[in-house]
Amino acid sequence: MIDKINDLIQKVEAFKSQAVPEIEEFRIRILGKKGELNALLEEFKTVAPEAKRELGQKINQLKTLATEKIATLKKMAEEQSETAAQTIGDMTRPGSAETAGSRHPISLVRKQILSIFERMGYTVADGPEVEDDWHVFSALNFPPEHPARDMQDTFFIEKNPDVLLRTHTSSIQIRTMERQKPPIRVVCPGRVFRNEAISYRAHCIFHQVEGLYVDENVSFADLKQSILYFAKEMFGEQSKIRLRPSYFPFTEPSGEVDVSCNLCGGKGCNVCKGTGWLEIMGCGMVDPNVLEACGIDSKKYSGFAFGMGIERVAMLKYGVKDLRLYFENDVRFLHQFDAVL
Ligand code: DAH
Repeated sequence: MIDKINDLIQKVEAFKSQAVPEIEEFRIRILGKKGELNALLEEFKTVAPEAKRELGQKINQLKTLATEKIATLKKMAEEQSETAAQTIGDMTRPGSAETAGSRHPISLVRKQILSIFERMGYTVADGPEVEDDWHVFSALNFPPEHPARDMQDTFFIEKNPDVLLRTHTSSIQIRTMERQKPPIRVVCPGRVFRNEAISYRAHCIFHQVEGLYVDENVSFADLKQSILYFAKEMFGEQSKIRLRPSYFPFTEPSGEVDVSCNLCGGKGCNVCKGTGWLEIMGCGMVDPNVLEACGIDSKKYSGFAFGMGIERVAMLKYGVKDLRLYFENDVRFLHQFDAVL
């Protein structure tokens, strides 16, 4: 009987197949009800008690070997037929649906901002992300010791203080005024870079839209009315604005604009921290030094400028609470803006 078992062990070891039906047939022959293993077990009953121990162990060895071998062969055969189906392609299989992407909220809100100003007669201007000191700071009337020029805020390229990543889109104001004579009415969208620790409320890369209007007799009243129109278009007809005095080197006077909180209607909630107001942009009358730096006669012309963060506007409009979501591109976040046109 020991020879029979050894024979079977050899047979199992030698068996090779990649065809599932063939493997199944082999399984039935060895492990099936009327298979060879069961026949051996029948025979085992008649064996003398002193031989049982050795033979029993052998039979168990055979059983484990056969079960494992058959399982492995089957798995390999199935995997192979799957890859074959993938490469050749099963022409009768139903097609899988393509999942559509969606527009990024930053693109959507940038488009909304630009189109509001385009309706007011503004055109869109562009400028480089890698800039020089003149366009980002000096021409904008930043004094030489201004902290924004500092290594802590600005990314410099190759240790050269004159090659840097723009920290705001106000640089495009300068490029536009150098190129174009008044009347000028432009909005300038773009990415800006600041050396900041990343958190829910700050990022080292974000987006801004800058606005600039230069002509004869441009007044603070024009600025206020343009921004009020923008706020109503962006946040709804019921929106109000208020201006707080502020300071920017490139505008005089300068202001900070708040819009009435569109979530609580100005009553005060946790988004507006109970104040009823949300800060949306900086603005002011273009400092005469800036006009002169670009070769524009500040006695004849005046202008206003404003700048806002696109992430911030999107956050306020859509209640996004964490800036980092804009950069992670998780489709579960992005798809929530599918319905926004
Ligand atoms: N450049 C400013 C910033 O990045 C924003 C800004 C404020 C732009 C006032 C302006 C302005 O044009 O008049 O914080």
